[in-house]
Amino acid sequence: MWLHSAVLLLLLGQCIEISARTFEIDNNKNCFRKDGKPFRYISGSIHYSRVPRFYWRDRLLKMKMAGLDAVYTYVPWNFHEQKPGVYNFSGDHDIETFLKMANEIGLLVILRAGPYICAEWDMGGLPPWLLTKKSIVLRSSDPDYLQAVDNWMSVFLPKIKPLLYQNGGPIITVQVENEYGSYFTCDYNYLRHLMKLFRQHLGDEVILFTTDGSGLPYVRCGSIEGLYTTVDFGPGTNVTAAFEVQRFSQPRGPLINSEFYTGWLDHWGEPHSVVATERIVKTLTEILDHGASVNMYMFIGGTNFGYWNGANTPYEPQPTSYDYDAPLSEAGDLTDKYFAIREVIKKYKKIPEGPIPPTTPKFAYGEINMEKVKTVLEALDILSSYGPIKSTYPLTFEEIKQFTGFVLYRTTLPRNYNDPTTLATLFNGVRDRAYVTVNGIFQGILERDKEMSINISGTQGAQLDLLVESMGRVNFGRYNNDFKGLLTNLTLDGEILANWTQYPLDIDTAVINGLLLETSSMKTSNSTSPTFYKGSLFIPSGIPDLPQDTFIKFPGWTKGQIWINGFNLGRYWPARGPQVTLYVPMHILTTSSLNNITVLELEHSPCDTGKCTVEFVDKPILSKSKTHFKQEYLFTK
Ligand SMILES: *[C@@H]1O[C@H](CO)[C@@H](O)[C@H](O)[C@H]1NC(C)=O
Ligand SMILES: *[C@@H]1O[C@H](CO)[C@@H](O)[C@H](O)[C@H]1NC(C)=O
Ligand SMILES: *[C@@H]1O[C@H](CO)[C@@H](O)[C@H](O)[C@H]1NC(C)=O
Ligand SMILES: *[C@@H]1O[C@H](CO)[C@@H](O)[C@H](O)[C@H]1NC(C)=O
Ligand SMILES: *[C@@H]1O[C@H](CO)[C@@H](O)[C@H](O)[C@H]1NC(C)=O
Ligand SMILES: *[C@@H]1O[C@H](CO)[C@@H](O)[C@H](O)[C@H]1NC(C)=O
Ligand SMILES: *[C@@H]1O[C@H](CO)[C@@H](O)[C@H](O)[C@H]1NC(C)=O
Repeated sequence: MWLHSAVLLLLLGQCIEISARTFEIDNNKNCFRKDGKPFRYISGSIHYSRVPRFYWRDRLLKMKMAGLDAVYTYVPWNFHEQKPGVYNFSGDHDIETFLKMANEIGLLVILRAGPYICAEWDMGGLPPWLLTKKSIVLRSSDPDYLQAVDNWMSVFLPKIKPLLYQNGGPIITVQVENEYGSYFTCDYNYLRHLMKLFRQHLGDEVILFTTDGSGLPYVRCGSIEGLYTTVDFGPGTNVTAAFEVQRFSQPRGPLINSEFYTGWLDHWGEPHSVVATERIVKTLTEILDHGASVNMYMFIGGTNFGYWNGANTPYEPQPTSYDYDAPLSEAGDLTDKYFAIREVIKKYKKIPEGPIPPTTPKFAYGEINMEKVKTVLEALDILSSYGPIKSTYPLTFEEIKQFTGFVLYRTTLPRNYNDPTTLATLFNGVRDRAYVTVNGIFQGILERDKEMSINISGTQGAQLDLLVESMGRVNFGRYNNDFKGLLTNLTLDGEILANWTQYPLDIDTAVINGLLLETSSMKTSNSTSPTFYKGSLFIPSGIPDLPQDTFIKFPGWTKGQIWINGFNLGRYWPARGPQVTLYVPMHILTTSSLNNITVLELEHSPCDTGKCTVEFVDKPILSKSKTHFKQEYLFTK
């Protein structure tokens, strides 16, 4: 009898008395139901992989204080499984701690679990080791791809199951794949496979969803029965029309914009993107007036530390900063956009009272003298401790199982070339940039989609070296299977070069182990060829509140990579821009000893001719030209 009335209550929809945590879709009222009550979310994107763990709480608190109900975070598979079967869930990779922290702060979580996330992240989050099967069709029913996905998800999904809302955690919805309708395969069996896999590991209750651009063709290939369809669109879009597209495949249930763009991404060589706050406010208001749920992408963009940036095609890699012109800056600073968005949210719901965590102070530590250590060629034994791999024709990064960073390709000149002679890549096969030297003397640069040939000279038997840099794998579209290194033969004077020696370089380990501190005795080299420099930053312990965050500037330097105390801060390229300074979070700095700065300058340093310094300043410069760029939303991400 007692049981009967409980069932009856349920049938009557009187869910208020039920103590269980539930999060469901109400197809009658076209909304979510959280613990039985109608609910819509206002959310913001934060990628735990782009914000140091040290700052997770600060950024989440700022998001909470803006009035957000939820944060949306993405899981980059390649960040956690860098080698097949070797997983990292600790330190900055500790997603469970991040999710629990959000829960403690009172933020719900929307989780883009992958396997593909896009996000201007290297290869859209897919691990590059998938490419060791050359013919693999990513994001499809290719059995090797599915096997790798199954293995990963059987490790990852059980970790988050206890963190689902139903189980006491913060996760209300889980996204499967991303913008699949913008990809060429349109493989419904693949989406069905993922749905089954997610259900198997997460159970039947959690809401699984997809996201696609707000155009009919996208939604057609991106949606299947059983995965809730959502759309994404930016400011200036006709909101009514965009949600009509969602309704095409999702006739009932809550309206959801999963990516409402608060700013836009940058590419090296293009102006810094800035999107006016008024445009954000206008469209955000329209979305909320529709009663829709919305996620602001990004609420804080953060940083592509190390080698984690992605790229678009035709090949355009993204810079280290992922500031995105978001309401919280790359360094977590409160902006006018933040306060304007908070005012909009205030009109629709009660927002938390109390102080907002303040913008963190920044410190200009000033100029640091740098000193040449040695060239890459001089450091080869340190950088390539397992030695080289030989082959007749060049091998790709994937073939020699080095997936990021740099590989040195070496051969000898077959004849005398006294006059400038053309060294060319066949079929645009340099991925992505090759710094060419003959007997250690710089000759020029080959670059994907830009420079297919240079002239070199030298004598028979002279050593020809190409330091090849991966500048980040394509993260969006058809050319996701982005192999690196020399993909095709090189010719010199029309003849194919053969007998290659490839040195995989583990620069990060050498830096961490302090192996790049002893200066070379050889003075043969030249400031124009890939070279390591070192410097040290002394932070006096007497000054209270130091260390603080800072930004590093490279006056007179060209392009390279920088580490501080072994932490790989990312790529600098002031010669191309728009980014001029790199963000240096305080947690990598110390007052108890000298801070070690290592710079790998790939092209030209100022050290032979001018001041050999880097400079720590207290303001970021993300726009070389300072011209503001009005982004037109011509394509979805
Ligand atoms: C995991 O990543 C952290 C950085 O977040 C690093 O310190 C740690 O060494 C890595 N662990 C393993 C086992 O690779
Ligand atoms: C927006 O789209 C709706 C539905 O397609 C249409 O009726 C309306 O005229 C559009 N508004 C504008 C300003 O174009
Ligand atoms: C340094 O490099 C430049 C440019 O390639 C070259 O002209 C010059 O001869 C080099 N100098 C030395 C000392 O190697
Ligand atoms: C290479 O040298 C040839 C002459 O030997 C010249 O015609 C050509 O313009 C040069 N190419 C480049 C890219 O400098
Ligand atoms: C390089 O050239 C050789 C000889 O023509 C050919 O067998 C080989 O397939 C070529 N390699 C690539 C990657 O194109
Ligand atoms: C490659 O090396 C082999 C063995 O040293 C030699 O016989 C051959 O001629 C070389 N090929 C080229 C194109 O240099
Ligand atoms: C900097 O390098 C020196 C020499 O290897 C080392 O003793 C010191 O601990 C390093 N400092 C930091 C902060 O890692």
